[in-house]
Amino acid sequence: MKRLKTAVVGAGIYGINHLQAYKHSADAELTAVCDINPQIRERVGAEYGIRTYSRVEDMLEREDIDAVSIATPDCFHAAPAIAAIMSGKDILIEKPLATTLSDARAIISAAREFGARVAVDYHKRWDPAAIQIRNELSKPSAGKPIRGYMNMDDIIDVPTKWFSWSRNSSPAHFLGTHCYDQIRWFMGCEVTEVYAVGTKELLKSKGIDTYDTVQAFLKMENGCWWTVETGWIYPSGFAKNNDGRTQILCENALLRSDSQNRGVEIFDGTKYGTPNPYFMRESDGHPFGFGIEPINDFIRCLLDNKPFIADARDGLEAEKIAEAVHKSLETGTKVMIEREA
Ligand SMILES: NC(=O)c1ccc[n+]([C@@H]2O[C@H](COP(=O)([O-])OP(=O)(O)OC[C@H]3O[C@@H](n4cnc5c(N)ncnc54)[C@H](O)[C@@H]3O)[C@@H](O)[C@H]2O)c1
Repeated sequence: MKRLKTAVVGAGIYGINHLQAYKHSADAELTAVCDINPQIRERVGAEYGIRTYSRVEDMLEREDIDAVSIATPDCFHAAPAIAAIMSGKDILIEKPLATTLSDARAIISAAREFGARVAVDYHKRWDPAAIQIRNELSKPSAGKPIRGYMNMDDIIDVPTKWFSWSRNSSPAHFLGTHCYDQIRWFMGCEVTEVYAVGTKELLKSKGIDTYDTVQAFLKMENGCWWTVETGWIYPSGFAKNNDGRTQILCENALLRSDSQNRGVEIFDGTKYGTPNPYFMRESDGHPFGFGIEPINDFIRCLLDNKPFIADARDGLEAEKIAEAVHKSLETGTKVMIEREA
């Protein structure tokens, strides 16, 4: 049986999950990694026993690879993605597809021209709670969805300590695109209109010129209104790196999900913790969870020639919403999203 030869570009906090998934998959063979950081190349090369590269072009030229994961910072997805596409590879891009519509469209047009397949890692689509909510929504007995609420927040360490590139992203891109994608997937239709407000104070006072929080109001084609709150200034002492809630009011049903406390609580004398066992866990040396499943599905969809659960078009639609959110923040007016033919 064919095994997919894979490589990863960007082996930072999240790229490690791609390396782990490929390393442990019976259907994949991890061949190489590319990262501009020499310490990361040295560590990952030794740990995974794979060849390392500082330039994606060199990796693509020298290695025999079928598929590439792109896990570079949000604003630096397009260049390595297009390079991989142009050398005939299928790709899995970390969310968001890009932080500008022009980058998103450039990736899509390169994929069309070179016949590459593009998946986007919107891993919330694999969260068991989100799947259950979507299944409930699909039942005629729930009735029409009328109003939705979703929030996703990170602790302030994420933009201030984890990343050097947070000023080039925003809550709408880094967190909002997760929500916008999930909402499109829940509703089975598109956003037509956006109004957003936000604050730029705390992070700006620390020299990071990006939004602290963004509240967006989305109108869907099915008439349902959503409020989406995203931010990355939660206190460092919060029980988890992130927080999130979903609530959907339908004609005959109320659906709620809490992604903050998933049932595991840890008290270690210094800090109360609520790790999410459904996202990532290790058992018998193998990684499991909805952080790993999208990468395993990417492999299977390529080997079995099946459609991806989230593809480049989903990435583009989420980016259109993020860009409309930013336009509304800047203009203080509502922004319509035109559908393309
Ligand atoms: N951290 C999270 O919780 C999380 C969760 C889901 C998705 N993501 C997404 O994953 C992507 C990566 O995020 P991260 O948290 O791993 O960031 P990170 O800053 O920890 O890692 C990015 C890595 O990419 C490398 N890099 C940058 N430019 C490069 C280039 N041109 N070629 C090769 N390597 C390059 C950097 O050296 C770094 O090692 C982002 O798009 C992010 O939104 C992150």
